[in-house]
Amino acid sequence: MTSKRSARIYRGTPRNLRFLARRLQQGELVAVPTETVYGLAANALDARACRRIFKAKGRPQTDPLIVHVHARAELEAICVLNGPARRLAAQFWPGPLTLVLAKTAFIPDLVTAGLPSVAVRMPSHPLLRRLLRLAAVPLAVPSANPFGYVSPTTAEHVRQGLGSRIAHILDGGPARIGVESTIVDLRDPTRPAVLRPGAITREEIARVLGQPVPIRKPQPVHAGNGGRSQVAPGLMARHYSPKTPVQLHRRLPGRRLPNEAYLLLRRPKEKPAANVFWLDHRGRLAGVARRLFAALRQIDAGGFRKVHVELAPEDGLGEAINDRLRRAASS
Ligand code: TXA
Ligand code: MG
Repeated sequence: MTSKRSARIYRGTPRNLRFLARRLQQGELVAVPTETVYGLAANALDARACRRIFKAKGRPQTDPLIVHVHARAELEAICVLNGPARRLAAQFWPGPLTLVLAKTAFIPDLVTAGLPSVAVRMPSHPLLRRLLRLAAVPLAVPSANPFGYVSPTTAEHVRQGLGSRIAHILDGGPARIGVESTIVDLRDPTRPAVLRPGAITREEIARVLGQPVPIRKPQPVHAGNGGRSQVAPGLMARHYSPKTPVQLHRRLPGRRLPNEAYLLLRRPKEKPAANVFWLDHRGRLAGVARRLFAALRQIDAGGFRKVHVELAPEDGLGEAINDRLRRAASS
């Protein structure tokens, strides 16, 4: 089943940005670049527009969205800030950090999946910042992939996944960071915790807050599905998964099978081969994160039986990289 309709990709000219801002104000969806991954944006104050996000992604309505803002002044209408939130915002915004805080009545329940909290972030990508300013509304922006698949890091990835379901994609070049934002739970300001590791490391957050910040496994949320409870799907183990089965290794096996792929952190010394992929010339973690999702897509396209992936060192940005790899490997 293929649809004839295909999304149009727009360059970030002033005229295109004004046009796309109007589309957002009128309740349409626009895929947008961010510094982390590409997102699918809708007016966060318009429940009907946000419902379209869930439909286009095939995402269950139990999985809440992150609200993206242009400036601090917008936040008061959306959430209740506290001391640690102000300190982290001053240090890392605009940037790849999402804060979970108590919500106000202004935000539709659909956006937060009925939770009394809302996730907020001020992105740094210059085109998205211009679009936010022109649209003059906060935007709900999940990653622009069909639910469960690897997040997109280029406009072309968005078109491959959602091109038949959306009309507009703003091209801002390849995503600079490549993995999604760090999510910090600050509902209780005395007990900050990381819900999803990301580009801002746990060490950096702990330094600003002056206390250790543990990783907290997501709490089950009531799904309203006949009494069953389930974990927020965005935080479920199987997410960000390529189609090719993933096997993780501290050290990759020396023996290479021709119908299996091998994904290394750094460029190997051996002769190049069609089934051997690497992420960063020197294995630097910023480069590894930036290339990771594109490489998994490339390997999916290669039709391999399986992909063997080398884990990153377990600290700093390695925590976010390994988190995504473990989700990709779980079934
Ligand atoms: O980098 C990013 O954050 C990207 C770009 C597009 O901004 N966005 C992104 O959104 O990753 P999404 O929808 O793919 O992931 C949002 C995550 C979900 O796992 C959801 O469970 C969690 O944020 N989340 C949203 N609201 C929450 C809340 N009130 N409490 C706890 N978790 C929440
Ligand atoms: Mg996502």
